[in-house]
Amino acid sequence: MTPSIRHLAAVLAASATLGIGASSADPLAARPAAQRADWSPIGGTVQRIITRMRQSLSHAQMLAMDRATVERFITDDDRSVLANRYWTFRVDAPATVSIMRHTGQEEPPFWLKTRGFKLTPLKVRSQEYEYEVWQKQFPAGPVGLGINCFNRHRVHYFVSVGPQGGGRQPRVTDIVPALHGQSVMRKGASMYHDWSDLTLVDVPKELEGQVLLPTIRGRAREAHFVGGFRQTALPSTLRPSGVALTWPDDPKTSVAIQWRTSPAAREGWVEWRRAGYRSWSRTEASNVMVADHRILNDPEVRLHTATLAGLRPDTAYEYRIGPVPAGPFESFRTAPAAGTSVSFVWLSDTHSKADTARLLERALLIDPGIAFAAITGDLVGTGQFRDDWDLFFAHTEAFAKRRPIVPTMGNHDTIDGLGADLFLSHFALPRNGARTIAPERSYAFTYANTLFVILDCTEDIAAQTGWLEGVLRSSNARWKLALFHFPPYSTDEDYPDIRQEWCTLFDRYHVDFVLSGHVHQLERSHPVRGGKVVSDPADGTIYLMTVSVGQGPGVTPPPPWAIVKTAPIVPVCHVIQINDRGAHLRAIDAAGKTWDELNVTKR
Ligand SMILES: [Fe+2]
Ligand SMILES: [Fe+2]
Repeated sequence: MTPSIRHLAAVLAASATLGIGASSADPLAARPAAQRADWSPIGGTVQRIITRMRQSLSHAQMLAMDRATVERFITDDDRSVLANRYWTFRVDAPATVSIMRHTGQEEPPFWLKTRGFKLTPLKVRSQEYEYEVWQKQFPAGPVGLGINCFNRHRVHYFVSVGPQGGGRQPRVTDIVPALHGQSVMRKGASMYHDWSDLTLVDVPKELEGQVLLPTIRGRAREAHFVGGFRQTALPSTLRPSGVALTWPDDPKTSVAIQWRTSPAAREGWVEWRRAGYRSWSRTEASNVMVADHRILNDPEVRLHTATLAGLRPDTAYEYRIGPVPAGPFESFRTAPAAGTSVSFVWLSDTHSKADTARLLERALLIDPGIAFAAITGDLVGTGQFRDDWDLFFAHTEAFAKRRPIVPTMGNHDTIDGLGADLFLSHFALPRNGARTIAPERSYAFTYANTLFVILDCTEDIAAQTGWLEGVLRSSNARWKLALFHFPPYSTDEDYPDIRQEWCTLFDRYHVDFVLSGHVHQLERSHPVRGGKVVSDPADGTIYLMTVSVGQGPGVTPPPPWAIVKTAPIVPVCHVIQINDRGAHLRAIDAAGKTWDELNVTKR
């Protein structure tokens, strides 16, 4: 089960670009993007430490890294950077800087005592955690703070800045990294951009009203040495692997073919032709290097993408990857020009698990006409771990080398507020989404008689509403589906903002089905309109959740709109078949057992 988290860092990224946010008075609303992890002021230092470790230690020693070993590889200069340059800002008057340090952390940040911070009797509490308060006085001018830890303790410290003695409250400026921003220290304030629902419930009066400097929990990963190194089970080679198709544009006329190799494979291409034809066309692939230096046995891979455009609708094509073939030539089929039916398989929360391959295989046995696989988020366990993506593409390859993947962003794909670089690097997707958030995080396409709208609910919800309405209003598709990760209606978590912003549009423009995940339960609602159950699917939207990792404790009693509350211990997916007259949705496990089934007639 994933916790109830919302990725405000991503929200803030959009907010900063476009001047939107939770409220215009919210000082957090004016913060630049946290799209990449390489904004870290200590990134170069950490990289040099890792390089020295790799030069001296075996992989086994790296995997068994402990604090004493870390110390052997840190120079005095490194120590100074890690103690002073991780988080910096300026104060324009003498300031008392308070560090709220999670009492559950094994040991305080190594620099706290040596930098002269003193433990106070004060305690700060959120709904989940207790923090002890360390303080130090600074003159007007620069203030520099150090790392959270050498492991990955996610409950990161946060900061408040107050006056000294009877002086005035200092203004805080020049915050680096700028994503931290500032707020006001008080009950109800949020201290983690990537968990905005978590707020302070107990703030000592001595700290109330001070400048609060929140952070993102993912920053704990920046100096992650102890337990931070990994090995991929699937190191790259010169031979293409992880082959996957996506639709970068109109499914009738385009397809992107992507694969990965070792860095030494500097170029690649796709040769393709209409099935049954003799001559091949050739399209060169672009490529990008993807680095994850904590993967000991394969720190860099090259991602290749060949984009084919100008294809004929409803046509079978064959292709082969060069220069080192991935195997015999493969095939795919473009979408029909004006079809009246579509079948697809829908998964959610695959979390890099091997069950994905078995589910996709079973779905194709049930309906060989399946055109694509939609996955509503949490494709991997940790979006910043490339080895998780290695597994995901290995498990999907047998399916995805012939049929596109239609991915949706989940909180695990952009975990801990550090951005979604690997998700975005790995997929070539339509760039027709909301301009208020980064491209490819939301998009829409029509396949035959059905509109598919993909939204990114880890981003600002309201920022996508205008685009969503435009797409729904302008579509004349017979069926309309919306896909996004957090469920507006479920027996577990609650998303009133999604209901307010998006579900009202689903009512207005009659979206037939909303497909979500996240709660790791198989659930289906009655038709819902305006938050109330209606009897006829023609009058409301049916909300469904599936779970392809097979957890789910179940919840009793279900709220009145939930009619399916099975909690399978096995992973499931849905085979969804739509034509002009009706839709058939069937939840199956890898053995083919049906867990839920629904027929909806279209009038
Ligand atoms: Fe999940
Ligand atoms: Fe999730």
